[in-house]
Amino acid sequence: MAISNQPQASSHSETLYKRALKVMPGGNSRDSVYRSPFPFYAASAKGFVITDADGRERIDFLNNYTSLIHGHSHPKIVEAVTRQLPFGTAVAMPTEIEIELAELLTGRIPSMERIRFVNSGSEAVMMAIKAARGFTNRPKIAKMEGAYHGSYDFAEISQTSGPDGWGANQPRSLPVSQGTPQGVLDNVVVLPFNHIEASIQILDQHRDSIGAVLLDLMPHRVGFLPAAPAFVSALRKWATDNGALLIFDEVITVRLGYGGAQERYKDRPDLTAVAKIIGGGFPVGAVGGRADVMEVFNPSLAKIPVPHGGTFNANPITMVAGHAAMSLMTPDLFDHINGLGERARKGLAEAFSVAGVRGQVTGGGSLFFVHFNDHKLTDYRSGYRDAAERERVTKLVNKMLERGFILATTAMGCISTVMSEREVDALCEAFTGAVREMRDEGAFDAARRS
Ligand SMILES: Cc1ncc(COP(=O)(O)O)c(C=O)c1O
Repeated sequence: MAISNQPQASSHSETLYKRALKVMPGGNSRDSVYRSPFPFYAASAKGFVITDADGRERIDFLNNYTSLIHGHSHPKIVEAVTRQLPFGTAVAMPTEIEIELAELLTGRIPSMERIRFVNSGSEAVMMAIKAARGFTNRPKIAKMEGAYHGSYDFAEISQTSGPDGWGANQPRSLPVSQGTPQGVLDNVVVLPFNHIEASIQILDQHRDSIGAVLLDLMPHRVGFLPAAPAFVSALRKWATDNGALLIFDEVITVRLGYGGAQERYKDRPDLTAVAKIIGGGFPVGAVGGRADVMEVFNPSLAKIPVPHGGTFNANPITMVAGHAAMSLMTPDLFDHINGLGERARKGLAEAFSVAGVRGQVTGGGSLFFVHFNDHKLTDYRSGYRDAAERERVTKLVNKMLERGFILATTAMGCISTVMSEREVDALCEAFTGAVREMRDEGAFDAARRS
């Protein structure tokens, strides 16, 4: 693949971007696909390849931010959706296929005794938080510093905290969006990920007002560092002892195993938010958990504690796509992509030593995340990227695009089931070339060269 990411006068993507600028702020509907000087527009996507508007093909290790576990347009999902289309795309009635997907997910993730569908991961997290507040009748949530949980006001607090404001000892509740009400900031307690003693001390200060502790077992923006089992147990115990609920955000990590990431831990959450892969490539989310907690949504009650509508919730297109995608995911297939994930993490880490640059690769299962450092990473602060580091990461991602490989703008990636060792090895080889080139261009200070 001879590919260039340099702006070209004749680029169709650039022409499209100029059109988009006239109708959308920054020409964009989604920050995570913004790219300077202009993004590559997709023309088509099939399997692990995306073809852009100028006819260039690239191997997709991003898979719509981890949501397409079978890559693009998997024949079984296309067939399921095509079969459903003539019978209605969205109806103001429940459908049988909604029950089938609910049965599949609750059957695989035992802590989800009951489940409800929504249209995104953000909504799933929001409804989990609202359910916890409704059940406990308490206003506050606790969340981890730097963890991304989507765009609900309360869930996004501290997600972009930097050293200028994050506070010396106790993480501060910092806004992400300008204009965030003080009431939101006052009702979110921020904890240092993986620090047991400090977290429990902070939680104790809000003992009677915390309704839920929200935890991603391997938070992406914290650098795909796994939650230490002892940390999860400490949060579980604190929540149980103090009348709060424990929520797992498994929007991404549900792809780590047949029963999600939680099957790797001994502690169970009260509620779980899932999304991405469970929709087979269509907009989706779901919140599930203890039957008694989920009763807050029961619309047959005279007074529903937490009312929950949603025009497109559980629409039959998403449900058939999700059911097809998840039915294909046998335990063996999870093992297959997790094995390729391991190969990618190892191969990418080796690339750093071959290129003589300090670096490491975190993640688990089918997910990987690249860091240009080799110190011990435990929490958000230890992996924090300043402006110079973010620039380095952008350079790397652009060099990978030039070589025909798509990663997230954070240098994160994932494996899909249609990939093999060949694609993973090609990724690692291209990565070695990209890191070497950056080294030769002087992108790394002496401390990062070994
Ligand atoms: C852990 C986590 N939670 C929530 C969300 C929000 O999901 P969505 O983009 O579907 O709203 C994301 C999205 O990437 C996520 O990674």
